Amino acid sequence: MALFISFEGGEGSGKSTQAALLAERLRETGRRVSHLREPGSTGLGNYLRHWLKSNDRSMTHEAELFLFTAARAELVRRVVKPALRDGEIVVCDRYADSTTAYQGYGRGLPLAAVRAANHLAAGGVWPDVTFLLDGAPHALLMRARAQAALYDERDAADRERDGWQRAQDGGEERFERAPLAFHERVRAGYLRLAEEEPERWRVLDAAQGAGLIAEQVWDEVARLEARAGAASVAGERLPGM
Ligand SMILES: Nc1ncnc2c1ncn2[C@@H]1O[C@H](COP(=O)(O)OP(=O)(O)OP(=O)(O)O)[C@@H](O)[C@H]1O
Ligand SMILES: [Mg+2]
Repeated sequence: MALFISFEGGEGSGKSTQAALLAERLRETGRRVSHLREPGSTGLGNYLRHWLKSNDRSMTHEAELFLFTAARAELVRRVVKPALRDGEIVVCDRYADSTTAYQGYGRGLPLAAVRAANHLAAGGVWPDVTFLLDGAPHALLMRARAQAALYDERDAADRERDGWQRAQDGGEERFERAPLAFHERVRAGYLRLAEEEPERWRVLDAAQGAGLIAEQVWDEVARLEARAGAASVAGERLPGM
């Protein structure tokens, strides 16, 4: 049963942790899963991910918008659509809402322009459910920095290897260094999005234990699968499309 699930939230909110836990549990119960991350999961996406995260040169906000949406345009057409068509469950660590929250609300680009870029990139493919891991940015950033500090204690060779690994695995240094006010705007932006589209979003308290959050995610996904199953039997819905 095709289903498109995304995780959103600020730096260190637990998106990668929850996406991995969900993908693993779904696979254990016999579902076919594509576990993706944004930007990434395609040739161009991984190239841009590494460039965006390892390169701290500043760029214009407009260029940043286009790089993230370019990665998304590839991901949607080359990976997400084929997987959904094939009946897979797609679990995505960030998606188009990140662009609205970061480049729109965070950077202050006009929301209408961000929406237009997102719509072109997403090609009409929107998640069935989006989990927002919401919490106070200062607390979540401390989590993310604690993780970064672990890397600093290692020797130079490890650091070099893990520097690449961290960029690959979801380090967000580009934004981690932004002032707290930026992260507060991103959080407020996410909450606004969730408010505007309550049928798609589930807001979860990121300060809870990871196991507890995973249970809430699991319950919601089970509910959604049951509903999608009933609807597709009735021929009413092409999931994820
Ligand atoms: N619910 C939780 N409670 C406490 N710590 C957590 C929780 N979830 C994740 N962590 C820890 O917080 C750190 C950040 O988690 P994770 O990498 O999953 O967040 P993220 O949202 O993917 O971050 P980023 O925005 O940097 O990609 C990790 O060290 C992780 O082990
Ligand atoms: Mg991550």
